[in-house]
Amino acid sequence: MKAILERRSIRKYTGEPVSDADLKDLLKAAMAAPSAGNGQPWEFIIVNDRQLLTEITKVHPYSAMLLQAPLAIIVCGKLDNERYKGYWAQDCSAATENILIAAQSKGLGTVWLGVYPVEERVNGIRKIFKIPENMIPLNVIAVGHPAEKKKPSDRYDENRIHFNHLLLLNENKKHIWVHVKITSVKIIKHYGIRKVKKYRLETIQIPYLKN
Ligand SMILES: Cc1cc2nc3c(=O)[nH]c(=O)nc-3n(C[C@H](O)[C@H](O)[C@H](O)COP(=O)(O)O)c2cc1C
Repeated sequence: MKAILERRSIRKYTGEPVSDADLKDLLKAAMAAPSAGNGQPWEFIIVNDRQLLTEITKVHPYSAMLLQAPLAIIVCGKLDNERYKGYWAQDCSAATENILIAAQSKGLGTVWLGVYPVEERVNGIRKIFKIPENMIPLNVIAVGHPAEKKKPSDRYDENRIHFNHLLLLNENKKHIWVHVKITSVKIIKHYGIRKVKKYRLETIQIPYLKN
C-alpha cells in the first residue's frame, strides 16, 4: 500500500545509473502482471544509450526528462501473443503499473510517457527502434534515482464509488441522478436524504444532501 499511495511521477534524476539487479526486479514485476487469458503479450526494450534516449525526445513532445534519465523501458504489445484480441493495451498497462510500483518500493523514480494511441509517437518510436508491424509501443517509462521529492497525492474520492447502483453527482453538486428503485433504503441512508417520494425504477434527480 505504501508504494502505491506514495508513487508520483518523477521527472528529475541524479546521474546515478540504475543497477542491473534493480532493472531485473522491475522487469520481474512487469511480467508478474495479470493478462487476458495469461497471454503475456508484452516485450520490453531497455534503453540506456544516451543517443537513443535523446532520439526519443525528438518524437515525443513531453519526454524532455529523458535527456537526464539514465534509463527508459519501452513497453510494447506483441499482437501475435495476444490471447484474446483487443486486450493487449490493458495487459501491457498492468505490466507498466507494476514497474512503477516496484520502482517506487526500491526508491527509484519513474514517469509513464504515453505513446499509443498517438499515431505520430507510435510511428516515431517504431522508426527509431525498428519495431515491426505486429508490435505496438504502448509507452516509454523513464527510470532513474529521484532528484526531486513529491508529496503523496490523496485522490480518494467517495463520490466515485457506487454501491450496487450508479449515483452521479451533477456538476453543481446540488443534485444527483439516480437510476434505482428509490425504495432502496441503503442508498437513501448513504446520502442522508430524509424525505423521498416513492418512485418506480427510473432515472430521477434528487437533492444532494451529503452529511
Ligand atoms: C497514459 C499516460 C500517459 C502519460 N503521458 C505522460 C507524458 O507524455 N509526459 C509526462 O511527463 N507524463 C505523462 N504521464 C504522467 C501523468 O502526467 C501523471 O501520472 C499524472 O499527472 C498524475 O501524477 P502522478 O503520476 O505524479 O501521480 C502519463 C501518464 C499516463 C497514465
